[in-house]
Amino acid sequence: MGHQGKQYNVAVVGATGIVGAEFLKIVAERRFPLKGLKLLATERSAGRRIRFGEGEVEVEATTHASFAGADFVFISASGAASREYAPAARDAGAIVIDDSSVWRQDPDVPLVVPEVNADDVVRHKGILAIPNCSTTPLVMCLWPLHRRNPVTRVIADTYQSVAGTGAAAVAELEEQSRAWTEGRETVPHAYPHQIAFNLLPHIDTFLDSGYTKEEWKMMAETRKIMHEPALALSATCVRVPVFVSHSLAAHVEFERPMDADAVRDALREAPGLVVQDDPDVNLYPMPRSAAGRDPVYVGRIRQDMSHPNGIAMWIASDNLRKGAALNAVQIAEEMIARRLV
Ligand SMILES: NC(=O)c1ccc[n+]([C@@H]2O[C@H](COP(=O)([O-])OP(=O)(O)OC[C@H]3O[C@@H](n4cnc5c(N)ncnc54)[C@H](OP(=O)(O)O)[C@@H]3O)[C@@H](O)[C@H]2O)c1
Repeated sequence: MGHQGKQYNVAVVGATGIVGAEFLKIVAERRFPLKGLKLLATERSAGRRIRFGEGEVEVEATTHASFAGADFVFISASGAASREYAPAARDAGAIVIDDSSVWRQDPDVPLVVPEVNADDVVRHKGILAIPNCSTTPLVMCLWPLHRRNPVTRVIADTYQSVAGTGAAAVAELEEQSRAWTEGRETVPHAYPHQIAFNLLPHIDTFLDSGYTKEEWKMMAETRKIMHEPALALSATCVRVPVFVSHSLAAHVEFERPMDADAVRDALREAPGLVVQDDPDVNLYPMPRSAAGRDPVYVGRIRQDMSHPNGIAMWIASDNLRKGAALNAVQIAEEMIARRLV
């Protein structure tokens, strides 16, 4: 990415969180052109020192005055923090890239996966949002196919890791796994039930429709990113006892028949995707092999035997990277490349 030699003041709200930590790694790895870096969290974390590059940066409590002089503010904290601080940061003149769900459906807020709808960044009014961490890998696999053969319906079932809930849920899975092997009882905090050695068909709150909010987000966000407001989609989102990376089984119907080889070829050419599809050698995407990596992995590509125009595929990607921090950094890079900052 051309950075035109300019450097930028960056503030991160939620720097002590699990996405915040991944964000700092990615900024360093990609040599994001930083002039200054401000790490923000709650009062609880103020004074903590976080290693970055050769040195350490002290964490500050977030206030409305935290954003003076910032070019980019990345918010990866909580819905309440995003609702409060995104307008304050925008009004201070920064470009806000928000990880929460609170701004995603706002018509003034571009919801962006650069590999799919990079052009939407130009319509920004100071706040941009990244999608939910399961929506991003799904749209990245749908888009290259949709351009060749319009998608008419999608059924997506997710297998989402505890890292998607945050640092506390990761610690809880560790503790419950230990307790289970030691025959100890534990009380769940992060979820309504034990997550270790279990599956929870319940992410976010239940809506009147019977879907969960997480399922609704996947459906609504996919439509917004693909600019297909009428696209038929149905999702079931399941929390699984995996530490990092979300997986999905996607069943996709097209206007016309599309054979599995054509799907594989289209996905191989698409940016940000890696096709891992060789059942003869047990090669397919898995959360463990996707963790810590940037691409979205797709495999198990096959004709849907129940539908003449259908295909099925299996997707895995690191929810903290492409599902969150990496996508946010890529949006900033896109804006820099287009001289929007
Ligand atoms: N995890 C994912 O895969 C994923 C993917 C996409 C989007 N997101 C979104 O990213 C956000 C962060 O998720 P996470 O998984 O990193 O959570 P996390 O590990 O629980 O970390 C939360 C971070 O936010 C800070 N924070 C919370 N409330 C705050 C407030 N009122 N003001 C300032 N800072 C505040 C916390 O600071 P303290 O340490 O001081 O408490 C901490 O740094 C959420 O909005 C989530 O929906 C997450």
